[in-house]
Amino acid sequence: MLEKAVDLLTEAEAREELARLGRAIAAANTAYHTLDAPEISDADYDALKRRNAEIEARFPDLKRADSPSDQVGAAVADGFGKVAHRVRMLSLENAFAADEVAEFDDRVRRFLGHAGTVSYTAEPKIDGLSLSLRYEDGLLIQAATRGDGEVGENVTDNARTIADIPQTLTGAPQVLEVRGEVYMSHADFAALNQRQAASGEKTFANPRNAAAGSLRQLDARITAARPLRFFAYSWGQLSVPLAATQFEAIRRLEALGFQTNPLTVLCSGPEEMLVHYRRIEAQRAVLGYDIDGVVYKVNDLALQGRLGFRSSTPRWAIAHKFPAELAWTELLGIDIQVGRTGALSPVARLRPVTVGGVVVSNATLHNEDYIAGRDSRGQEIRSGKDIRIGDWVQVYRAGDVIPKVADIDLTYRKDGAQPYVFPKKCPQCGSPAHREEGDSVRRCTGGLICPAQAVERLKHFVSRGAFDIEGLGAKQIEMFFKDATLPMRTPADIFTLAARDSANPLQKLKNREGFGDVSAAKLFASIEARRSIPLDRLIFSLGIRHVGEVAAGLLARHYSTWAAFETAITRATPGTPEWAELTSINGVGEVMAQSLVEAFQNTAERHAIDALAAQLMVQPVQARGAVDSPVAGLTVVFTGTLEKMTRAEAKARAEALGAKVAGSVSAKTDLLVAGPGAGSKAKEAERLGVRMIDEDGWLQLIGDA
Ligand code: IVH
Repeated sequence: MLEKAVDLLTEAEAREELARLGRAIAAANTAYHTLDAPEISDADYDALKRRNAEIEARFPDLKRADSPSDQVGAAVADGFGKVAHRVRMLSLENAFAADEVAEFDDRVRRFLGHAGTVSYTAEPKIDGLSLSLRYEDGLLIQAATRGDGEVGENVTDNARTIADIPQTLTGAPQVLEVRGEVYMSHADFAALNQRQAASGEKTFANPRNAAAGSLRQLDARITAARPLRFFAYSWGQLSVPLAATQFEAIRRLEALGFQTNPLTVLCSGPEEMLVHYRRIEAQRAVLGYDIDGVVYKVNDLALQGRLGFRSSTPRWAIAHKFPAELAWTELLGIDIQVGRTGALSPVARLRPVTVGGVVVSNATLHNEDYIAGRDSRGQEIRSGKDIRIGDWVQVYRAGDVIPKVADIDLTYRKDGAQPYVFPKKCPQCGSPAHREEGDSVRRCTGGLICPAQAVERLKHFVSRGAFDIEGLGAKQIEMFFKDATLPMRTPADIFTLAARDSANPLQKLKNREGFGDVSAAKLFASIEARRSIPLDRLIFSLGIRHVGEVAAGLLARHYSTWAAFETAITRATPGTPEWAELTSINGVGEVMAQSLVEAFQNTAERHAIDALAAQLMVQPVQARGAVDSPVAGLTVVFTGTLEKMTRAEAKARAEALGAKVAGSVSAKTDLLVAGPGAGSKAKEAERLGVRMIDEDGWLQLIGDA
């Protein structure tokens, strides 16, 4: 989709787009990390993150409290114990083009104020899942997945079954956290899928999914039977440093008994990095395991320390991704799926074709404008070529994900092929399907009357981040939704299921096919266990458009109880104090507020919400504390020459401590840090009576002196 250039966005557009991007990224995170079922391609995901970062860079004041730039991955799935990482597990910034690698090197040198060449390591980016291994006194004591970067899943028993992971180490630091990637080789993946298919079990779409599914088994015996491998490439907490450089640290891990990637080399500067990138890319097909790019890291660990981190990625590393894979095939038909919020999504049915080793027969066509050859602002894409059934189309797949139709070849267009007419009515319930101003998506207006929306809403309701009811997944929802004797049409019906079943002497659930005494009782018990639910989960589970997991958390922490939340949303129409309060929540914009208010005013929705609330005990949620530092919450301005660090380094450090760094002095400024040569800003600060200190005073204040 072509988007308006960030430079041209108005502030209001930027605010709205940041909200939209935040939701899209949060949804993609949940699909990928928590559910192991990605919904968008890696390339699309990267594009969302990048646009979000670009808008934030242009409008720093609009950066949201729940900005995706500050988050890594998604919350952990239930079932495993939780492990708080002592050193956060970070993600990597991505580069796609060669000039972005040069820019990365420029940025590093500028940040450090470094004129000469910087050395980097270059190594393959393994397409698996990251794992942190904690050794104390040479013994493996804990293994944890990344989770959201702060808290991961405890998979120690499972990790112990992986042959590449040593159980004991000789000569290691007393505390050593080794980080690396768990992956599955192509040969092992193919054999595993064959065994799975032969025994009638589910097969995996690709080696990454197979590795993730195998590591995250509650029964470690299953993991033991799966051929997982591990490459070490990084570390977390250490009682003593491993070495002075990245390269030597990796050698040290190798000497301790870890597998490290043999394609790791040392490069001086971007040119050598690109040479190694092409070398690795040329070997990609014969490596025997999936990689999706090359990672460059500043070699000198002292420089890494000075460069530090942005909110979720280090400044000293970048992932240079490989381009996506392509193939051509015939478009056999277009189906329209109706989603939870009524969105009509066109899906391409394709003559099956192999794209990067995976057979693809469905791909997304995004929306009606995309099919017609326009972006949502009416500008041409694919030089304006529309997509017709029977066309020869290019399918595009990046990594692990739903493929897309990228282009078409008009030379193969069949005579008499007609432009595709996008339905104006919902194919499921016949209600009119409308497009709102500025929205590229056409939506069914049937709300809960539409069976497709109602059933998708229920599936969302029982999904992991929401009520997560054991034994009640998408499949069971489909079944109960259509059921004549024990129907489940709205969430409240889930909580009356047991009572309705016991009131019906004839057709008991336990006598149904697929159920028995035990499984029926189990289902009733797992439903009962969720009758008491935290407020944030409840809000998220309502499936209100624009209200994702992050927003639900913000709302829950703000209102704290269901009663307060419900009263506020019921009263909040524009102009009321409740509306002002709702939209003042950092991270809640007008669009989300409007969507909440509409849901609570719609009769059918409101009825469903009230009926549900009457069934539940809602646990209040506590507000979260802020960063604890002497400068947290202060607005700071730096001016003049700083002698002990570059401006960028000073700003980054201040922000890490919870301060806001502004470019100019105003009545809102709390502190001016003035070096030699400070001019007009110092005068202005003096005029306004703003507190002024010098660089040493600043370092003392933040405890870095
Ligand atoms: S370094 C602080 N090196 O890519 C940086 N990561 O997109 C730590 N990954 O979460 C990561 N191969 O799971 C690093 N050679 C490599 C990698 C690698 C794969 C994964 C890792 C990370 C993700 C970021």
